[in-house]
Amino acid sequence: MAKTTVEVHLTPQDLAAQLRADVAAGLSAAPKTLPPKWFYDAVGSELFERITQLPEYFPTRLERELLRRHSDEIAAISGADTLVELGSGSSTKTRLLLTAFEACGQLKTYVPQDVSESALRAAARLLETEFPDLTVRGVVGDFTGTLAALPAEGRRLVAFLGGTIGNFDPAERRDFLVGLSGALTVGEHVLVGVGLVTDPAALVAAYDDAAGVTAQFNRNVLRVVNRELGADFTPDAFDHVALWDSANSWIEMRLRARRDMIVRVDELGMTVRFAAGEELRTEISAKFALADFEAELAAVGLEPARGWCDPGQRFGLVLARKAECSAG
Ligand code: SAH
Ligand code: TRP
Repeated sequence: MAKTTVEVHLTPQDLAAQLRADVAAGLSAAPKTLPPKWFYDAVGSELFERITQLPEYFPTRLERELLRRHSDEIAAISGADTLVELGSGSSTKTRLLLTAFEACGQLKTYVPQDVSESALRAAARLLETEFPDLTVRGVVGDFTGTLAALPAEGRRLVAFLGGTIGNFDPAERRDFLVGLSGALTVGEHVLVGVGLVTDPAALVAAYDDAAGVTAQFNRNVLRVVNRELGADFTPDAFDHVALWDSANSWIEMRLRARRDMIVRVDELGMTVRFAAGEELRTEISAKFALADFEAELAAVGLEPARGWCDPGQRFGLVLARKAECSAG
C-alpha cells in the first residue's frame, strides 16, 4: 500500500533561529545581503510558481521539454527505485520522471525535499491522488545542511532541478557537490538541471519580467523579515534590479533603496541605514557551459553518464553516476 508522509527536519523554531542569524549578519555586512532561502514562504513559493509560467522565464519550459524527451532513458540508466528531489517546490516537472519510472514498474518511493513546508505539503497531496501506487516521503529540510539525513534505502536517483545549483556561489557549490557525492553509494545517480550561458538580454529579461512578478518575488524577502522579525521595511521603496555579471557568469538580483531609509528590526534590536541608491544583494543565478559543469561533477566523483541540452543551448540536464573512487 502506498502512503504519503511529511517529515519535518526543520521546525519553525529552527527556521526562526536561522533567519535571525542570517538577517543579523547580512544586514550588517558591506554590501548588505540576504540569503535566497528566505524568499520561499507560502506567498513566495506561489510567486515562484507564477515566475515559472512567465513568457520571459524560459528555463522551466526548456527543462520540462528535456525531461519529456529523456525521462525514459534517465529511468533506464539510473535503474533507481527511489527518486529523491532537492528543492522540489511544486514537483510539477518531476511528474514526467515519475511517469517514466512508473511505466517501467521501477519506482517505489519519491522523496521530495524542500525548505518550504507549504509547497511540499501541497505537492505531496496532489501526488498522492495522481500516483496512487507511489510512496511519497516528503522531507522539510535544508539542502545546504546534511544530506546524510535523507532516506538511504533503495537505489537512489537524486534530482536537483530548475537551475537551483546556480543559486550557490562557487565555494558553496563545491561544498554542496562534495556533500552530495559523499551521501551517495557507488552506482547511485544524480540528475542536475543547469542554466547555460546565453544571450545576456534574454537572461536579464528572465529575471526582470515585464509584469513585475519577479520584482514582487524579490521584495517578498523584505515582507518575510517584517513578519518574522518585526522589521519595518517598506518593500515598495526598493527597486528590483537584475543584472548580468559576465566576469562571474551569473545573474545577480538586488533590491535598490529609492531614498535614504532607516529600518528597524525589532526582534534583533537592530537599526539599519540605507543610503539612496544602496543595493541589497538577494540572489545570484550562475549560468554554465555544460562541459564545465560536467567537469565540476567529475571532480567530486560524480561521473557524467549523459548530458542533454535544448537546440538553442540555453538549458542543460546532466545525469551522473557516483563513481567507485571519489576524488575529494
Ligand atoms: N525544483 C523546482 C523549484 C525551484 S525554485 C523547479 O525546478 O521549478 C527553488 C526551490 O528550492 C524552492 O522550492 C525553494 O523553496 C527551495 N529552496 C531554496 N533554498 C532551499 C534550501 N536551502 N533548502 C531546501 N530547499 C530550498
Ligand atoms: N532557481 C531559480 C533560478 O535561479 C530561482 C529564481 C528564478 C529566482 N527567478 C528568480 C530567484 C528571481 C530570485 C529571483 O532561475
